[in-house]
Amino acid sequence: MSTLHVLRNRIAQKSAVVGIYGLGYVGLPLALRFSEVGLKVVGFDIDTSKAALLNSGQSYIERITPDRIQHALDQGFEATTDFARTSEVNALIICVPTPLNRHREPDLSFIVNTVEAALPHTHPGQLVSLESTTWPGTTDEVLAPRLRAHGLEPGVNCALVFSPEREDPGNPHYGTKDIPKIIGGTTARCLELGTALYQHAIQTMVPVSSTRAAEMTKLLENIHRSVNIGLVNEMKIVADKMGINIHEVIDAAATKPFGFVPYKPGPGLGGHCIPIDPYYLTWKAREYGVNTRFIELAGEINHHMPHWVVGKVADALNERGKAVKGSRILVLGLAYKKNIDDTRESPAVEIMDLLQARGAHIGYSDPHVPVFPRKRDYHFDLESVPLSAQTLASYDCVILATDHDGFDYALLKSHAQLIVDTRGRWTSAPNIVSA
Ligand SMILES: NC(=O)c1ccc[n+]([C@@H]2O[C@H](COP(=O)([O-])OP(=O)(O)OC[C@H]3O[C@@H](n4cnc5c(N)ncnc54)[C@H](O)[C@@H]3O)[C@@H](O)[C@H]2O)c1
Repeated sequence: MSTLHVLRNRIAQKSAVVGIYGLGYVGLPLALRFSEVGLKVVGFDIDTSKAALLNSGQSYIERITPDRIQHALDQGFEATTDFARTSEVNALIICVPTPLNRHREPDLSFIVNTVEAALPHTHPGQLVSLESTTWPGTTDEVLAPRLRAHGLEPGVNCALVFSPEREDPGNPHYGTKDIPKIIGGTTARCLELGTALYQHAIQTMVPVSSTRAAEMTKLLENIHRSVNIGLVNEMKIVADKMGINIHEVIDAAATKPFGFVPYKPGPGLGGHCIPIDPYYLTWKAREYGVNTRFIELAGEINHHMPHWVVGKVADALNERGKAVKGSRILVLGLAYKKNIDDTRESPAVEIMDLLQARGAHIGYSDPHVPVFPRKRDYHFDLESVPLSAQTLASYDCVILATDHDGFDYALLKSHAQLIVDTRGRWTSAPNIVSA
């Protein structure tokens, strides 16, 4: 029997061992899901503290409760930093970061490092699936040659697929299992094996003709969001100048039963995906002599939004006879979107940085982020400020950057001297300015 036959049988019988590489916001829920449906899972990460926490039944992601981790441990889940254990798994699913480098170009070093650490311990008959968002061609041009150099030929003695993660953190309606999953294989056999594996954990698989089509699909989804958010942010600036409430306009437009999709403006873009992924396509498109003008324009508008908010804060303080310099300013909501604890690329942090550079005394309050997290670009030695009538009244300005459900909006409105609202939470009031 060929090695791929053996793999197919293991998958069919659910005796396949799944290795998840990168136990972050994407990898950890996926590992728990495979475990929940009865597959043995080994989780690999380079962060020893994450592996230790998981193995002791603790979680480092707010929405993943320790009892889910304990349940997985009871099912045989283990976390490790020992890549030699790659030899024990039948599937390698790669969920590592794909950031931009200092020149805003794709940084595939996490993918390459993972593959190179695992490769010496791979063997024929394994399935490799890349989930990290990346430019079209990565699976073919970066992964396949490395496997071949190691004697692994996709479709012959190994399987290679790209299957992007579509996680929507904080979405109560769609979790890992309910979100249809795109998958493309290097060959038809690869696709068949990859689909068979994921089908145990995911309700609906959506096969496409190639790994490139799957890679491009993920980018289209995120670019679609970035461009539409850019558009609505531009509309917000125009509406503000004209004295029109953009939120009222969007709600009214959304009553059209066809042809309009509402997007909400805000203080800018955040998260690991939307501010970053579009540039993966921009970079690759250059190789084909194509300029991605929409993508770059949307990026420009979205990146400008924190500056626009700071301008509104300065104007509002000025109206009250105050300067930014020396004012006490409290930013509400550090996470990039409501009801989650993820602060990556959050515009709230950039707003804090811009205001501090102008001499403001900055504080923040976020029920999901008790301590300002370690970051590459920014550092604030701060803890979340508990909100009370007295505390709110002591700030010259409060900025609603992210509208968590956990905030007491009545308390805010009654006691803040000045609120700059970037989320359209309130209609007008003497102490509220929309931004
Ligand atoms: N977070 C989301 O909502 C989301 C949604 C869809 C797609 N994605 C994509 O999924 C990928 C992963 O994102 P994430 O949010 O889970 O990132 P993350 O930073 O939360 O987690 C990545 C994990 O990988 C680990 N890691 C780094 N290098 C490694 C290596 N060489 N080997 C093993 N582990 C390593 C890190 O320690 C970390 O635990 C990215 O490509 C991202 O664009 C993320």
